[in-house]
Amino acid sequence: MNVLVTGGAGFIGSNFIFHILDQHPNYRVVCLDALTYAGNLSTLESVMDNSKFRFVKGDITDRELIDQLFKEEKFDFVVNFAAESHVDRSIEDPGVFLKTNILGTQVLMDASRTYGIKRFHQVSTDEVYGDLPLDRPDLFFTEETPIHTSSPYSASKASADLLVQAYHRTFKLPVTISRCSNNYGPYHFPEKLIPLMISRALNDESLPVYGKGENVRDWLYVGDHCTAIDLILHKGKEGEVYNIGGHNEKSNLEVVKTILRELGKPESLITYVKDRVGHDMRYAINPTKTRRELGWEPTTLFDDGIKQTIKWYLDNRTWWENIISGDYKDYYKKMYEDRQGDE
Ligand code: NAD
Ligand code: DAU
Repeated sequence: MNVLVTGGAGFIGSNFIFHILDQHPNYRVVCLDALTYAGNLSTLESVMDNSKFRFVKGDITDRELIDQLFKEEKFDFVVNFAAESHVDRSIEDPGVFLKTNILGTQVLMDASRTYGIKRFHQVSTDEVYGDLPLDRPDLFFTEETPIHTSSPYSASKASADLLVQAYHRTFKLPVTISRCSNNYGPYHFPEKLIPLMISRALNDESLPVYGKGENVRDWLYVGDHCTAIDLILHKGKEGEVYNIGGHNEKSNLEVVKTILRELGKPESLITYVKDRVGHDMRYAINPTKTRRELGWEPTTLFDDGIKQTIKWYLDNRTWWENIISGDYKDYYKKMYEDRQGDE
């Protein structure tokens, strides 16, 4: 099998490449990534010399390049991770989210139609379902929950999902979609909650918690997301949506306090800052369909996964220190200076 993984120099895509090369040694993997601020070639260092791996720098919205690549490689599977993925950035500047997340998906599907593939898998998110209230712990997102988005990011991901379903119905493109909850683990870019808090706590810097820190996310270790996508590719039914989540709901404050405890740092580092606009209250996935139909089971409990993740950030300081010492410094200043001291 020849597998195209787009966005493979980012957090989840890179973990998926390691998973596929390890679990399917006969497969060939081509990673296509534009190396935006979120893509990092050093993440892929360990597979660069693998004869079953090829890296191509390129943009999924570049029709000519995509056409040429599909013609040359004759892919069996396309797994689309490439996206602008940070909600806060989508609030600052929505345009690039619409271009990459919607039009990029269209370009990839057009090439998939032209050259023929066995499966086009769209990596989507639970954010397309909107949010749930904090006082209804009995409610969960199922695959039937209506699409109801809050941020330009989630609206762009939902638009892409609709387009993927339209290409299935209209052109019979063999597609699947997965909607996963919040991931954490190695190579997570330090603008997102968990790696941001770990890296800042290690440097004894303040930890900016939005609002009261009561918003709830449903955390899944990245390796469990990768095993689910692998199963969907091989056993999932064409045209279907699969929810992925492991029932690990935590408030942001609980997560931040756990990180501080594990690192032996004081809670006085926590600073309550101005809330995210349109901030989703709670995400919670019901993964019953994926478990029942595909036999998927998450294997990493949050208590173990967070320890492993913290250890990874301690053992791989150069990886994230290189990121936070560059342009990212200006990003942090720009995004957080207006929030200070305003709960
Ligand atoms: P990320 O931001 O870490 O990585 C995105 C990657 O895509 C980067 O390597 C970047 O260079 C690349 N990219 C961006 N624009 C591109 C373009 N136009 N052409 C080619 N490459 C481009 O993101 P992530 O957290 O790894 O998320 C991957 C996918 O999973 C996204 O589609 C996201 O919506 C989805 N998802 C993420 C989570 C999560 O918790 N992080 C949960 C569910 C779903
Ligand atoms: O649910 C899946 C989604 O999870 C993915 O689709 C997105 O790509 C991914 O970024 C993530 O979105 P969130 O907005 O949930 O993740 P983020 O890490 O940005 O924020 C998690 C929670 O922490 C959220 O309630 C906002 C809060 N937060 C975040 C940051 C960066 C803070 O309190 N302080 C912060 O500095």
